[in-house]
Amino acid sequence: MADDAPNVMLSSPVAVAQALAGMSPEARAQWRLADLPGRPTPAERGLDIPFPYGWFPAMLSSELAAGEVKPLRYFGRDLVIWRGADGRPRMLDAHCRHLGAHLGHGGRVVGDELECPFHAWRYDGEGRVTAVPYAERIPPSVARPCERQWPLSEANRMIWVWYHPTGAPPAWEVERFPETSDPAWTDYDIHEWRVFGAIQNMAENGVDVAHFRYVHGTADLPTSEMIWDGYRRASILEAPLDTPTGRVVSRIEARMFGPGQTSTRFSGLAETLLVAAVTPVEKDEVRVRFCFTQPRDQREGLAAMVAAGFVAEVCRQLDQDKVIWDRQHLLARPVVCDGDGPILPFRQWYRQFYAEWADA
Ligand code: FES
Ligand SMILES: [Fe+2]
Repeated sequence: MADDAPNVMLSSPVAVAQALAGMSPEARAQWRLADLPGRPTPAERGLDIPFPYGWFPAMLSSELAAGEVKPLRYFGRDLVIWRGADGRPRMLDAHCRHLGAHLGHGGRVVGDELECPFHAWRYDGEGRVTAVPYAERIPPSVARPCERQWPLSEANRMIWVWYHPTGAPPAWEVERFPETSDPAWTDYDIHEWRVFGAIQNMAENGVDVAHFRYVHGTADLPTSEMIWDGYRRASILEAPLDTPTGRVVSRIEARMFGPGQTSTRFSGLAETLLVAAVTPVEKDEVRVRFCFTQPRDQREGLAAMVAAGFVAEVCRQLDQDKVIWDRQHLLARPVVCDGDGPILPFRQWYRQFYAEWADA
């Protein structure tokens, strides 16, 4: 490779690699999902801040059949999700308004409604109690919808949930990625992690240009084009790649639609769409599922190898970042220098999603 050619696939020994060295594939798979006991409190790490508002992935559409009910935990709250006979998913706070049973453990779907396992009170999708089988009268306070609504949207083979701390309705629509409904593209290849850190720190990683060399062992990346546009942002990067058949321009388009919906589109030598499902569970825990889809006809030849290489490389980089994120503090006033990339503009853009800080 010529000296002036940045190579996004280059890998060399890096410090955090020592933490991962020698792990078998099985050990690594366990490590990705294992608890991290004994960690400092969220307050000690600067993570005792609000959750940002926006659309977040709740689960894959395939994980919830009609008539199924499941418990979930996101945004530090217990939630329940079910899919009615009409095919629509619905979500409520998990605890019954009667005596507090968890509706997601033993509850059952009846038609489009959810029945509590404890005394069989029935709920519609807005949390109204529609039936109490042994009572003559439904208490008026529970005949009204729940104060806290959880708007859902199904797109990109996922169920998305709108989170807003005050219960404000969705301020934008879930972005649809055409590849995910195109039969010419594969089913998702899914890789999962638990990250013990702030969703904001994870998102910031993409604009933290200096870390790529030290954490991921990549050569310096060319500067990418940055777009900041209301609730959307994008980084678009083009890098020449030398291949056995000549030089190809590889393009990486990373987009965010609010804090909870991101896509990364790789193109050039091989095509890949990464839909990163990243949803806060607690102040210091984030559920991460990287969902990759690629054109089915790319399964042979050089493009197939490169496509598989992309997936492996992105997962390897997430493993390395996790070593940092699991222990990173979120500093309210970080000290940055030239060469750091647009970390401060990123933070300024991100701040709009903390509704609690709107007037601060
Ligand atoms: S606790 Fe749910 S019906 Fe009684
Ligand atoms: Fe990284």
